[in-house]
Amino acid sequence: MQRNSISVYIQGIGSVGKNFLTILVDEGKLISERTGMDIVVGGASDRTGSVIFSKPVDPADLLKAKLSGNILSLGREATSREMTENEGGILVDMSSASRDGSRELQMYLSAMKNGMDVVTANKSPLANHWKEIMDNASERTRTVLYEATVAGGVPLFSLLGHSCGPSVVNKFTGIVSLTANFVLKQMREGKTFMDAVAEAQKRGIAETDFRDDTDGLDGARKTVILANALFGKNMTLKDIKTSGVSESTDVNGMDRYRLITEITRSGNEVHAFSGLRDLDEGDYLLSLGEMSLGYEVNTSRNGRLRIHSVSDGPGETAAAVMNDVMLLAREKFQGKC
Ligand SMILES: NC(=O)c1ccc[n+]([C@@H]2O[C@H](COP(=O)([O-])OP(=O)(O)OC[C@H]3O[C@@H](n4cnc5c(N)ncnc54)[C@H](OP(=O)(O)O)[C@@H]3O)[C@@H](O)[C@H]2O)c1
Repeated sequence: MQRNSISVYIQGIGSVGKNFLTILVDEGKLISERTGMDIVVGGASDRTGSVIFSKPVDPADLLKAKLSGNILSLGREATSREMTENEGGILVDMSSASRDGSRELQMYLSAMKNGMDVVTANKSPLANHWKEIMDNASERTRTVLYEATVAGGVPLFSLLGHSCGPSVVNKFTGIVSLTANFVLKQMREGKTFMDAVAEAQKRGIAETDFRDDTDGLDGARKTVILANALFGKNMTLKDIKTSGVSESTDVNGMDRYRLITEITRSGNEVHAFSGLRDLDEGDYLLSLGEMSLGYEVNTSRNGRLRIHSVSDGPGETAAAVMNDVMLLAREKFQGKC
């Protein structure tokens, strides 16, 4: 019997992308059973270029090719534009964030124009161009899913969207960025800033270009996405001030400081904050460990919810990306029945 399949076109095979492929290798059968669809890799890009596969490629072979530094030998070398010209497929963006999100914006618009949906772990396009991307998706009846952009593997948008239907979110407080808080803790324990960053990179939680995380830009991007997705705003990065951790941070007396996001609704106003905050003793966020991400939300009908992971990293983020792909695959499968 011929099986239904859906093709994914992968942008970026770094820490998250490699974990995404590993999940596909290890859990391909379970994913097919749960969605009714086989997930097929139709193409992939990294900094060296893009490759399109005319025949389904084994994700284990793609992983091997990436580890040996040459994905282009596996198929036909393609332009990045061709990655967005695959009707019915999913563009899966796990690439490094560009500063203003415009490279990714052009890719998403082109993909949606050509009948593709988008799943992204990359915050920059959404933090810089939320309205344009979402308006475009709605005009073209396409879907953009972004669970992995905020709080790694901790369920957030899907959970609140699917399980708290009649509620409005009135307040969100969370630790949604791992690196800055991890570095801060390591510095409090006596490491230099650069040694703390090196440790974060060793554990796979800090990106190669770590300044976005430590300077607080990453937290600000997440705050914009949260304000837009949960509070119905149309913010961009210009609306958020950033603060973070650097070589010059004096960590004395900073035991209860954390880099947090806080968004509050007050009447028609929404106030969004991203940065270092001296938390009150007993604050829920102080109970989270150095590898934890988590949040508290006050909802109008579902009460006050606290959700956190015990540890988080690229593996958990990749699982969140895969879950978004599975949601789209299941939707497509049900649409066909
Ligand atoms: N790490 C996490 O836990 C985490 C959590 C949430 C969200 N994210 C987001 O997920 C994305 C990936 O994170 P990561 O940790 O996997 O980063 P990473 O290890 O630095 O990997 C980035 C990947 O993107 C590729 N890339 C860079 N520019 C590209 C371009 N113009 N076109 C195509 N590919 C390009 C790189 O290619 P090369 O391999 O050739 O260098 C690399 O494969 C980032 O946007 C990050 O902010 C990460």
